[in-house]
Amino acid sequence: MKLPKQVKIKEVGPRDGLQNEKQPILTADKIAWIDSLSESGLSYLEVSSFVNPKWIPQLADASEVLKGIKRNKNITYAALVPNLKGLDRALEADVDEISVFMSASEGHNRNNINKSIQETYPVLAEVVKEAKMAGKTVRGYVSTVIACPYDGKVAPTQVREVADHLFSMGVNELSLGETIGVGVPSQVESLLEELLGHFEVDRLAMHFHDTRGTALANVVKSLEMGITAFDSSLGGLGGCPYAKGASGNVATEDLIYLLHEMGINTGINSDKLMKSALMIEEKLGKPLKSRQLEILRAEGRERIS
Ligand code: HMG
Ligand code: MG
Repeated sequence: MKLPKQVKIKEVGPRDGLQNEKQPILTADKIAWIDSLSESGLSYLEVSSFVNPKWIPQLADASEVLKGIKRNKNITYAALVPNLKGLDRALEADVDEISVFMSASEGHNRNNINKSIQETYPVLAEVVKEAKMAGKTVRGYVSTVIACPYDGKVAPTQVREVADHLFSMGVNELSLGETIGVGVPSQVESLLEELLGHFEVDRLAMHFHDTRGTALANVVKSLEMGITAFDSSLGGLGGCPYAKGASGNVATEDLIYLLHEMGINTGINSDKLMKSALMIEEKLGKPLKSRQLEILRAEGRERIS
């Protein structure tokens, strides 16, 4: 098996993780958590989203969070933006990277952003154009790359079509969202075979939710196919509120255990990362689902020291 020596982890817990938590988290607690993540060797943090706060009340404080955190110049601080109104707020808060998002399936796209796929393209094209004019890099997300909670199976060609539009708009990188965590390695292989025939491998990232415990197997398949960027969420936090039953992203600490044991470097310090995981677990007041946290609990080492 030919594997990369280095992989980039993009921590999405403060956005994808918290957006799915009902219990409000204090802005000061979010800031303290993000600051601790900034100390762990991560080089990319998706810290919030500038969506309609009525849709995602947990992240209504995106501007305050961005303004309150200590910026490390070696870290990219990104946020989701759905439209020009969100872009104005994100630029005002001086986000480093803008992430636009849409789905490969009509059902999820409509439920998540209240538009058809065709109606979404011009909205995102304008966001990408304006963001680039403001000197920002732009990341694109395509959700439901394997299946949709409303429409069922999604064909790789459907994903390629949306990816094509997003790359034509000028996104720098595209993250492929396995939103509901149903995918298995053979499906990831079919998806990537289709996409790698059209797009450069180093412009694609994988974003696996782990609802059925298949995320790490899907990561290994993606590594074999040359992917070197993965999104993950500390403690396995997360889910999409508009994809019922979907659980969190693959846990960052479980992902880096796998990568480091396979001899793949991430630049992340596992001990510091576990302290951050314990910190957000304490704020949420409930045990989180990662294997590494379960091991700490089993060994009686779950107190932050
Ligand atoms: P809409 O209601 O159709 O928007 O929502 P609208 O343009 O008709 O505006 C309605 C109201 O919202 C107006 O206010 C706007 O000003 C306001 P009013 O005049 O009624 O007082 N508004 C905003 N306010 C603040 N910031 C904004 C904004 N936009 C409108 N940016 C919209 C359309 C897209 C905004 C809405 O559907 C929305 O916010 N959706 C976001 C849903 C979301 O955040 N989902 C989770 C993230 S995606 C995800 O998790 C998947 C991913 O992880 C990958 C994967 O796992 O697959 C990325
Ligand atoms: Mg997600």
